[in-house]
Amino acid sequence: MTKDRDFIDRLIAGMTLGEKIGQLNLVTPGGETLTGTVVNTDVADKIREGRIGGIFGVKSAEAVRVFQDLAQETRLRIPLMFAEDVIHGQKTVFPLPLALSASWDMELVRASARVAAQEAASIGIDQVYSPMVDVCRDPRWGRIAESPGEDPYLAARFAEAMVRGYQGGDLSRPDAVMACLKHFCGYGGGMGGRDYDAVDLSPMTLHDVVLPPFVAGMRAGAGAVMASFNTLNGVPMHANRAVITDLFRDRLGYDGLVVADYTGILELIAHGVAADRADAARLGLTAGVDMDMVSEAYLDTLAASVEAGLVDEALITAACRRVLEAKLKLGLFDDPYHRLDWGRAAQPILTAANRQLARQAVAAATVLLKNDGNLLPLPAPESGRLGAIALVGPFVHDRVNMNGTWAVAASPSTVVPIADGVSEALGDAVRLITAKGTNIVDEPWLAERLNVHDWKDLSVVIDERPPAAMIAEAVEAAGSADVVVAVVGEAREYSGESSSRSDLALPEPQKKLLRALKATGKPLVVVVMTGRPLVLAEEAALADALLIAWFGGTEIGHGLADVLFGKAEPSGRLPATFPYCLGQVPVTYAHRPTGRPTPGRFQKFTSGYVDLPDEVPQNDGLYPFGFGLGYGRVAYGPPRADRTALSGDDRLKVTVTVTNLGDLPTFETVQLYVGDPLASVSRPVKELKGFRKIVLSPRAAETVTFALAAADLDFSVAETVTDTRRRWEAGAFDIHVGPNSRDTQTVRVVWEMPDTQGDRS
Ligand code: BGC
Repeated sequence: MTKDRDFIDRLIAGMTLGEKIGQLNLVTPGGETLTGTVVNTDVADKIREGRIGGIFGVKSAEAVRVFQDLAQETRLRIPLMFAEDVIHGQKTVFPLPLALSASWDMELVRASARVAAQEAASIGIDQVYSPMVDVCRDPRWGRIAESPGEDPYLAARFAEAMVRGYQGGDLSRPDAVMACLKHFCGYGGGMGGRDYDAVDLSPMTLHDVVLPPFVAGMRAGAGAVMASFNTLNGVPMHANRAVITDLFRDRLGYDGLVVADYTGILELIAHGVAADRADAARLGLTAGVDMDMVSEAYLDTLAASVEAGLVDEALITAACRRVLEAKLKLGLFDDPYHRLDWGRAAQPILTAANRQLARQAVAAATVLLKNDGNLLPLPAPESGRLGAIALVGPFVHDRVNMNGTWAVAASPSTVVPIADGVSEALGDAVRLITAKGTNIVDEPWLAERLNVHDWKDLSVVIDERPPAAMIAEAVEAAGSADVVVAVVGEAREYSGESSSRSDLALPEPQKKLLRALKATGKPLVVVVMTGRPLVLAEEAALADALLIAWFGGTEIGHGLADVLFGKAEPSGRLPATFPYCLGQVPVTYAHRPTGRPTPGRFQKFTSGYVDLPDEVPQNDGLYPFGFGLGYGRVAYGPPRADRTALSGDDRLKVTVTVTNLGDLPTFETVQLYVGDPLASVSRPVKELKGFRKIVLSPRAAETVTFALAAADLDFSVAETVTDTRRRWEAGAFDIHVGPNSRDTQTVRVVWEMPDTQGDRS
């Protein structure tokens, strides 16, 4: 990097107020997928006039070059910064973020982001609006698909891995892109699971649940953060100076860029805190939002507000400096075309290696919830033990849904459909019979909504045949097969932005199909495509084997075939609880104890549901956080602490021996949780504090070691969101180790802290 911060100082010193405000204007020229109803106009003219600092949603290298050329015609020749919603891959699409999180394999997560960075950089993208790290415990919210799930610790590891993958250690490299942590903050907790809805959070929950992934991402070096659409305790985040500036910047040390979300500044009017555009701009800038996305309220009003004495120019200068510093870090002042030029030479898009990684990711993310009689893996095609397979369901030949939500730059044409992947695996050895069996949904109005982004290809196509005829065809296919694989689930836009659901069931037509397939008596593998935890109690009863495949992206066909025939093991673990029923949400394993806990089953005057049967855990789901089976059979020994009495800066070592009793190699994700049974506040019953994904050969044992320091056992106490302390309290801690958050074994330790007990800032 030849240009430095002095260069920025000199540049700013020579800028007019209008030029500074121009740098804060972040626009989208529109076309293709839009995430809001407003787009910007006259983009080319505004660039020439120095009235735009960054653009997102530009889809080709040619267009990036044209826009950048225009910026080079301006007086100061400040380069534009190009951004894009690269959420789980650019052209090579990886499984959804929720699914990548389900892999619990942070090296894979990092590598997926590296691939995405290179593909995006190659068409001139400098910044990606990812990772999304909103912890979410309410799967009605459609954006849980983009999130790492319900747990702050897992989400924090995910945030770090994604940031490292995108930024690659040196942002000035042409194949590195700037990560943007979003959405800051609390967005995952909207009322009723509705998108954009109000969030009320205690300061303690904010600090212990919502902020950890943002802090982890910041420490990993994330260059940008995006404000969220929600109000937090009554204050819209785009106007929330206390949280953005006082807390995140001043207290926690964030020194990067803050961008608005789509029209988030203008929406301050609808939130009822801004009187008009000028007021909205003043509030946003004062809160610490540096770039105004799409609204153009900064562009249109800030100069007059400075003139009128309503806005301090120093705030504009500071925001402008942060924009310019981001561009400096990205190497844009040295060469605004360096990513484009690198991309033209490197051609990193959809390479065989990228596809291979995406294929591996499918197995790593897929979660096996049930496998009666070891139905899976199915016999290898060449074994001669299978005559025919019926592959049934509305997703079997599908390409359009497979990338899931937020794959805005990818084309369905590059997807390997499930039927193609399975057929390739089977070769001539086994007959493949396919049938659609059902529509994804039957209601035309719902299909229309789910097709919202599909201007070229529809993701939900209602068949002309009557439902009964489709089911009959599927039943006939099942009748001629040795095993049935039914692929069912949500349409891709059933999850994602503004796709909250009021129900978490599989659509009824698909349930009917599964019932009919079960009635054939053939072994039934159910594969679920979904962007969220669903209520699958009935499906779990119907299926002999149940796989959660999420949306697997470009290589879903190959990846799923690998899983079905045992070339790869489904080694995912749930990153969010799958509830037993809708009424249980929001739900998390990490709930606080009540004064009246359920004694395992419902009892009057205890916490729980009067209408949930005894076998159902009252405050945990059908499948708990961290759950997933493999193709091996793993037994856990008891966890052992190297000492049970600790003091001060001691480190605790916890070991556990896990043994694969099965005949196939298996991945196991060993999980460590901590409980604090007696403290000055009621602490969550368990909190994830460590995990290790290992591979065990058949009949092999391995001892896994976790290390804990006192700092891993503290929590926050807070009067207000900004006035927080970490508090450490001595005493007993329960260390729970196991294959998921429910099936743990426990060792208790006592930790004294004579000198530093109490609050720390
Ligand atoms: C979403 C963001 C996204 C932005 C730009 C918004 O609607 O909330 O996550 O980055 O659009 O497309």
